[in-house]
Amino acid sequence: MKIWHPYTQEATEVAPVEVERGEGAYLYTRGGGRLIDAISSWWVNLHGHAHPLIAEAIAAQAARLEQVIFAGFTHQPAEELASRLSKHLPPALSRIFFSDNGSTAVEVAMKVAVQYWHNIGRPEKHRIVALENAYHGDTIGAMSVSADSPFTAAFHKLRIPFLRVGSAADLERLLESRHREIAGMIVEPLVQGAGGMVMYSPELLSHYRAICAQHDVLFIADEVFTGFGRTGRMFACEHARIVPDMMCLSKGLTGGFMPLAATICTEEVYQAFWNEDRSLAFFHGHSFSGNPLGCAAAIASLKIFENEPVFGRIATIEKIHSERLARLERTPAVSAVRMLGTIAAVELNAPDAGYLSELRVRLYPFFIRHGVLLRPLGNVVYTVPPYVITSEDLHYVYDVIEKALSL
Ligand SMILES: Cc1ncc(COP(=O)(O)O)c(C=O)c1O
Repeated sequence: MKIWHPYTQEATEVAPVEVERGEGAYLYTRGGGRLIDAISSWWVNLHGHAHPLIAEAIAAQAARLEQVIFAGFTHQPAEELASRLSKHLPPALSRIFFSDNGSTAVEVAMKVAVQYWHNIGRPEKHRIVALENAYHGDTIGAMSVSADSPFTAAFHKLRIPFLRVGSAADLERLLESRHREIAGMIVEPLVQGAGGMVMYSPELLSHYRAICAQHDVLFIADEVFTGFGRTGRMFACEHARIVPDMMCLSKGLTGGFMPLAATICTEEVYQAFWNEDRSLAFFHGHSFSGNPLGCAAAIASLKIFENEPVFGRIATIEKIHSERLARLERTPAVSAVRMLGTIAAVELNAPDAGYLSELRVRLYPFFIRHGVLLRPLGNVVYTVPPYVITSEDLHYVYDVIEKALSL
């Protein structure tokens, strides 16, 4: 049997690179090569590959309890993770529902939002609003709430109809006329990742939040990408000083070691499900919901935040990003640069701008040949490095980008 790889047109791409081991920001490939992982392996890794503390925590947990059904059962790693996470989140976010990847965290949030209104006797509130250019995952629900793109083209007829807005004025107009049918709004706070690292201001985020509150619409912050320090704060919502009704977490939750996700909601949302009437329960779960190995990895990752100068590392990355982006901005090939925290993006001039831009076809192998894993989103080159990347290596990543643009 042969493997079918994700997000890969195997007819045109070279064979996948075989990785034998990872350490810090490096991936060691078969045949003795080494790559700097400048995108944290799809934005998941925080403290470096094979970090011994996380690896040991997983091994110890595997020797004790690797997995148990999470309906009717609980375990120490899940309980400890819930209590440790709550120290990093606003107290209003008090109930955590575990799943196993970013898309499922989003599916859960949307289903909870819709069932919340159903359970409190307002079933007509069943629609979800999303932002233009959004990306929330690849399952049918998460894909439906994501913007039209080459990823969704084949599924046009299958996607659930969602409402879409491009500005606060749009949202205000929509909610004024249709709030009676709208259950919730989902946003990627401050950074639309897969949409090309498009950024917007904390003021706009807090405006969206306020408009939703005004119109009885639940506000869902999808922090799957932005969570755990990526934007320079633990969570992107902190920049705007907002508390959403629900938050979706995954990717960096386990330091990038294990598939684990969480949808966290307020007590008010949870209470709509807590009832003598058993039919009002949330009938959703996955085989690996709350997997103990994932929880052990997440606890170890949070301990690293507590015991190591993680935000100092993030500040160093930010400084290098801003220095190097300022230089790149003056390059003729560059149409725009953007950054927030550890996320930096360089948008290139291209006649075919967008995810399928030919630039990507040329740039990706160039970067790999130069020892750097960068996976441009079409004509947008971005880096989101693990926080342990050295200054020298991050400068080298930028040197390679500059070299590619000078060709
Ligand atoms: C904001 C956001 N939400 C959800 C997802 C989906 O996560 P997963 O790939 O783990 O399903 C992603 C993945 O990139 C994402 O960036």
